[in-house]
Amino acid sequence: MAFGRIPRFSPSFSPREALVAAAALLRDDAAADAEAVARFERRFAELIGVPHAIMVPSARYGFYLLLSAIGVGPGDEVVVPGLTYFAIPAMVPLLGAAPIFADVGLRSHVLDPDAFAAALSPRTKAVVPTHLFGTPCEMDRIVQIAKEAGVAVIEDCAQSTGARYRGQRVGSVGDHAYYTFGLTKNITTLSGAMVTTKDEAVAAKVRAALAGAGPTPRRKLAKEAATGAAMWAATHPALYWATVHPAVVVGNRLGKDPIHEPFGEPEVRYTKVSSSYTTQGRARAAQAEVGLRQLDRIDALNGARVRNGRRLDEALAHVPGLSTPTYPEGAEPIYMSFVVNHPRRDALAGALRARGVDTTIGYMNAFGDHPLFPEHKRACPNAARAMAELLHLPVHPNLSGADLDHMVEAVRSAALEVG
Ligand SMILES: Cc1ncc(COP(=O)(O)O)c(C=O)c1O
Repeated sequence: MAFGRIPRFSPSFSPREALVAAAALLRDDAAADAEAVARFERRFAELIGVPHAIMVPSARYGFYLLLSAIGVGPGDEVVVPGLTYFAIPAMVPLLGAAPIFADVGLRSHVLDPDAFAAALSPRTKAVVPTHLFGTPCEMDRIVQIAKEAGVAVIEDCAQSTGARYRGQRVGSVGDHAYYTFGLTKNITTLSGAMVTTKDEAVAAKVRAALAGAGPTPRRKLAKEAATGAAMWAATHPALYWATVHPAVVVGNRLGKDPIHEPFGEPEVRYTKVSSSYTTQGRARAAQAEVGLRQLDRIDALNGARVRNGRRLDEALAHVPGLSTPTYPEGAEPIYMSFVVNHPRRDALAGALRARGVDTTIGYMNAFGDHPLFPEHKRACPNAARAMAELLHLPVHPNLSGADLDHMVEAVRSAALEVG
């Protein structure tokens, strides 16, 4: 990497896939859409090792449809980790049910099985083990506790498509699961997401709910393909130093994050399911064709993350003040993110940026005591502390060995500087 300037992120989407998407969009053929989407769904179900996979417009709507299909309704409770993405707990009240927040491990960042057990009540209908940052939860215990309590297990695989737990792909360990394939994910379909389930009746209900939707607008997909190609170019090693890096440096001087602030999604309290999902949520061939090509590469893309993540795990294990992540026994993480904790996180991020390494605090939040859910407060001290201390280091597949060497040195010296 020229000049030691390392982007926080690099898309898996490539110009070749942009051409595939453009060709499919030009065809604009409903029968071809249905055939390609069915092929992608079958390949995805095979990959995960489950009987049913259904493309949905977003993971949050997929989650909503799963909750609805298993009969969650007024008075019911759904256990959600205290560190997650706002849109997931935000779906639960739309069905009249309550999100019950359960704490995470301080350094694993994923649902603590003991906290899940403590959050159970006779009203609990489902639990959402969220394999955050690419780290599978401790599924043996979570599934056992859920089985004993008669609670459905809906795995959140939005950040862990293809990761394994004790050799099994996540999404096939619990009862149902959802995944998402936006441009910044480990694999992409431009936009869109997937639901998987082992239950035929649940699959039929999810399909029935989607039946009336029109196709995803071509303009939206064309825009996503252009954005993906632009992201690819802007984060390419030959261009990053001249494109995004100056914006990051100037933004930092102004106290702003020029990547997250314009593109991040505002946290809102939903009052209804978005009409864009229900009226124009059907997937098109452009998404499926890109997805099929990404599935050809998924283990190579994830494998590059794993190599990079393991290298960082080893090299940064004993840096004073810094805590590297821990992983539940049996988890085979895909390092969607490499997240360290540091008590002087913001100072560390500044010192790293001065050394040409761009980091982010990401878009998760701690929800034990959050204004979006004032009536669902519940102590989640690890989630709150992790949120104040966590920092994502670059771990994407396009990092070179020299980038990793530079980063390790930068983290060591930055940690010394901030103390
Ligand atoms: C952990 C997690 N769950 C759920 C979602 C929601 O995905 P979508 O935007 O497809 O609704 C995300 C989004 O990135 C996520 O990171």
